[in-house]
Amino acid sequence: MTTSPGSATLLAEPALDLRGLRKSFGDLVAVDGLDLTVPAGICLGLLGPNGAGKSTTMRMLTGQAIPDSGSIRVLGHEVPRESKQARARMGVVPQRENLDEELTCRQNITVWATLLRVPRRDREAAVERALASAQLTDRADSKAGTLSGGMRRRLLIARALVHGPELVLLDEPTVGLDPQIRGEIWTLIDRLRSQGVTVLMSTHYIEEAERLCDDVAVVSHGQVIARGAPSVLVAEHAGVEALEVYGTPDRLAAVEADMAGLGFPTRRTGPSVSVLRAEALPQLVVDALPEALRRPANLEDVFVLLTGEKLEG
Ligand SMILES: Nc1ncnc2c1ncn2[C@@H]1O[C@H](COP(=O)(O)OP(=O)(O)OP(=O)(O)O)[C@@H](O)[C@H]1O
Ligand SMILES: [Mg+2]
Repeated sequence: MTTSPGSATLLAEPALDLRGLRKSFGDLVAVDGLDLTVPAGICLGLLGPNGAGKSTTMRMLTGQAIPDSGSIRVLGHEVPRESKQARARMGVVPQRENLDEELTCRQNITVWATLLRVPRRDREAAVERALASAQLTDRADSKAGTLSGGMRRRLLIARALVHGPELVLLDEPTVGLDPQIRGEIWTLIDRLRSQGVTVLMSTHYIEEAERLCDDVAVVSHGQVIARGAPSVLVAEHAGVEALEVYGTPDRLAAVEADMAGLGFPTRRTGPSVSVLRAEALPQLVVDALPEALRRPANLEDVFVLLTGEKLEG
């Protein structure tokens, strides 16, 4: 980027600016007055339970769904009015795969490069670069229909990046993938961020959000109910430490009741109860829980506290 006098204003323009966004499907309110501003160059994670409105929001950013009300600016373009211009500058990895199964990897990406108007003289190089970035060069001539799940996801990402987008939307990019492939996709996303690309990704995986995202927006019932850096959200809502108590259902219920009496939040964590903000527990109470394990507070604690729901995965 140059440092011409105008660049300060350019830099100040957020990559995404959503105000009062609403979208209903019949009686069902999917997005309910959502506000979100994403500065250029960060990776923002949308964290929310099933049906919270994450995919609908992303679809409105691309012009695939039209909001009932509210305003959307994507890279300075007003959407849906200027969807085409916005779309040309962003890469989209949808939650539902939409590869052409009969085409090879190279052909799938080439079709996209053509649609996205990558100039003919640059096209071949751009396609090869995209294949390489997703480590698919040696599978370039395989049909998409014959790829493994992880390769398919990598192909989807490669395709979205072929025109060098400034903003990338990733809707649950690693769902259902094994840890190794997930790690590879994390590397890919991290590389994008280090290149200055703005990333908006939805995820159910707390670890993914904690590792990759500069900022997280917790989405519940079509609204952003909390926003901030993962560590800040944790400190703000869940404190420093949790005590994890294991035991019989009766024992867990008793711990929950005791802690509620003392004003400490708890949540079920599988076969245990986590007492949050445990750093502030009186020593006497801690001594009465000799079997408890101490662990750092995490983003999942925040999520469950704020939404009352569990994440999958
Ligand atoms: N085309 C549609 N027609 C009718 N209802 C829809 C449509 N698209 C989404 N919805 C509904 O809107 C709500 C929000 O859906 P959305 O896909 O945005 O959620 P999400 O946060 O992406 O969930 P998930 O984590 O399961 O992907 C859901 O109740 C869903 O059933
Ligand atoms: Mg979704």
